[in-house]
Amino acid sequence: MEEPPEDGHIHQWLSQDEFPERMKKYWWQRQRIWDRYDQGVWMTEDAWFEVTPEPIANKIAAHIAESAPKEKTILIDAFAGVGGNAIAFARQGRWDQVFAFEKNPDALKCAKHNAEIYGVDKKIVWAKGDCFSEIYKRFSGQKAKIVLFASPPWGGISYGDDQVFDLSKMEPYNLDSLYSKLSRFSSSLVFYLPRNSDLNQITRYAPKGKKVEAAHYCIRGASKAMCVYFGDFDFGLE
Ligand SMILES: C[S@@+](CC[C@H](N)C(=O)[O-])C[C@H]1O[C@@H](n2cnc3c(N)ncnc32)[C@H](O)[C@@H]1O
Repeated sequence: MEEPPEDGHIHQWLSQDEFPERMKKYWWQRQRIWDRYDQGVWMTEDAWFEVTPEPIANKIAAHIAESAPKEKTILIDAFAGVGGNAIAFARQGRWDQVFAFEKNPDALKCAKHNAEIYGVDKKIVWAKGDCFSEIYKRFSGQKAKIVLFASPPWGGISYGDDQVFDLSKMEPYNLDSLYSKLSRFSSSLVFYLPRNSDLNQITRYAPKGKKVEAAHYCIRGASKAMCVYFGDFDFGLE
């Protein structure tokens, strides 16, 4: 089992005694978050509340694969974190190329390592840096081929305090800035957002004459988050 670097930013907690007391609830969830946790998954502390749990990441990957237009062959994960979604997209096998962008070098190291555990590290093109400038540099003119998935930071865990989360207050990127920056690169956008996000704000971004679909992703009957699908996704629903 490969050990993480010794600088202390990346962890491979294999026993409960090593795990930080204040985050104990995540210890009990570890195998729901990563099925292969015990094979040596690497995490940063922030990643525990940011990562997409594996069953949800797999479901999202399946939904995008089934519903995206056939001519879309490139999947971009703009905010890869420690790899929860990027790994699921690569395992799904629908895409000619999966690109994963991440600006935090520690999270990116975790993502690459975790992808190795799942046997898909070579199926993902990893890029360290700001997704907005990197996608612009690499993908200008390829809009027709791209599905862009974004699981941005939500500004911490306080979103859960509100009955309806105001997406204009999401930090550091609110819905408006995310949509206006990312819709330049793809007409098929999927945003992973808090479960209590304001749907009225979301529908304002429906492309002209088109629907926006929103799906809640649940574990044990409770919604963990929602995905909003902007563009020509076809779920066979009327
Ligand atoms: C919610 S987490 C993503 C979690 C990821 N889906 C997973 O399953 O691990 C958001 C990530 O976006 C990264 N990030 C924030 N701004 C960014 C930017 N401009 N470009 C690339 N990554 C960014 C953060 O470092 C953080 O790791």
